[in-house]
Order: sequence, then C-alpha cells, then structure tokens
Amino acid sequence: MASGKFITIEGPDGSGKSTQARLLAEYLGKRNRSIVLTREPGGTFLAEKIRGILLDPDTGGMAPEAEVLLYAAARAQHVAEIIRPALAAGKWVISDRFVDSSIAYQGYGRGLDPAMIWEVNRLATGGLVPDLTVVLDIDAEEGLSRITRQRETTGGRAVFDRMEQEETDFHRRVREGYLDLAKQFPHRVKVVSALGQPDAISRQVSGLVEQLHHQKV
Ligand SMILES: Nc1ncnc2c1ncn2[C@@H]1O[C@H](COP(=O)(O)OP(=O)(O)O)[C@@H](O)[C@H]1O
Ligand SMILES: [Mg+2]
Repeated sequence: MASGKFITIEGPDGSGKSTQARLLAEYLGKRNRSIVLTREPGGTFLAEKIRGILLDPDTGGMAPEAEVLLYAAARAQHVAEIIRPALAAGKWVISDRFVDSSIAYQGYGRGLDPAMIWEVNRLATGGLVPDLTVVLDIDAEEGLSRITRQRETTGGRAVFDRMEQEETDFHRRVREGYLDLAKQFPHRVKVVSALGQPDAISRQVSGLVEQLHHQKV
C-alpha cells in the first residue's frame, strides 16, 4: 500500500492553525482520502497529560531545557502511537504543530540552540519529517488579539495559556523563527499569509497539498 502523506500546520498563536487543519481535513475527506487530524502537544492519552502540564499557567516558570524535553516526550508518544501507524496504513496525517514549533518557541523564543533541539527531536521522532509544512504567518499582536476576541466571545474573560501569556517580544521571535525555517527548508516549509478569510486561506493550503500528489513517492 502507498504510504500516506504527513502534513503539519504551523504558525504563531492565533494564526489559525486549528481552523486551517480542520478545513484541510474536510477538503481531503471530500476527496476520499483517509485522514487523521491530530495536534501537538497531545494526540494521545499520555501526550495530552503532558500538554496539560505545558499549557497550564499554574505550572509557572520552567527551565527551557525541561520545556524542550516535555514537548519532545509528548511528541515521541504521538509519533509512535498515532502518526507512524497511520502513515504505514496509507492515511494522510494532518498535525496542528510538530517539531518546527519546538524550533520556533524553544529555539527562537526561549533562546536555546536550535541544533540541540533538532537533535532531541530526532530521538523523539526517529527522524520523521513532514512531507509539507504550512506556516500561517501573522503579526504577533494580531495573533494574540484574535485569541483575546475568541476567548471573550466564547465565555467571559480572556484566559491565556502558559505559552500565550509570554510577552509580545517572545511571540515576535517565534514568528521570525518560522520565517527562518521557511528560508532554511524552502521545499518543505511554505509560508501562507494568515490574513484574510479562512476559506480563501484554505484554498491556498489545499493548493499546496495538491502539489504533493505530483511529487514522486
Ligand atoms: N482567517 C481568519 N481571520 C480571522 N480570524 C480567524 C481566522 N482564522 C481563524 N480565526 C479566528 O482566530 C482565532 C484563533 O484561531 P485558531 O484556528 O484557534 O488559531 P491557532 O490554532 O493558530 O491558535 C479563532 O477565534 C478563530 O476563529
Ligand atoms: Mg490552535
């Protein structure tokens, strides 16, 4: 059986990753692709527990190295339990975040050496690399204000998670990190503006995904 494709959706907080991951899953589902839509940190029972630790504001400050390792631990379980089996069964896997998030947030955001983060993640993923990564590009302030609006309309006061709570400069560095990743890996990482209507953005994302069909496997 042909092995499936692995697509990751990346970008700063509030860039529309979860929205676009869902729209892409709908698009591919209509084309009779067998889809697994998943997210990080999370995607398995263990990894969702680690997600709780990582994103709970009550966890408070964390050594950046501990943060990298917790994300990588969650990812190792996610790859072993969900992503690799799905790809082996010929499914298309769409993940809301993957290794590039660790480079952008713990590397550019926290200031850890990206080479070390790649190395830790090589262990976590066994060297699994996405076939396509879409970075949704948005200004840090705009992304954060979308989240504020979302939380205020879905129930009271905006509560930011432990990462979202970081200062605006942190989120600016994260965005720069993603743009650098796109420069370093131009064949894999494609930047799409996160501004505009979700449907219009989704058409750009699905256009990039369609190009995967034409690649040799
Ligand atoms: N293209 C868009 N334009 C305006 N708002 C958007 C767009 N895409 C998503 N949103 C809204 O912005 C907020 C954050 O989107 P979400 O998909 O949760 O982003 P992320 O997963 O990257 O944090 C949500 O309220 C969502 O409805
Ligand atoms: Mg999201």
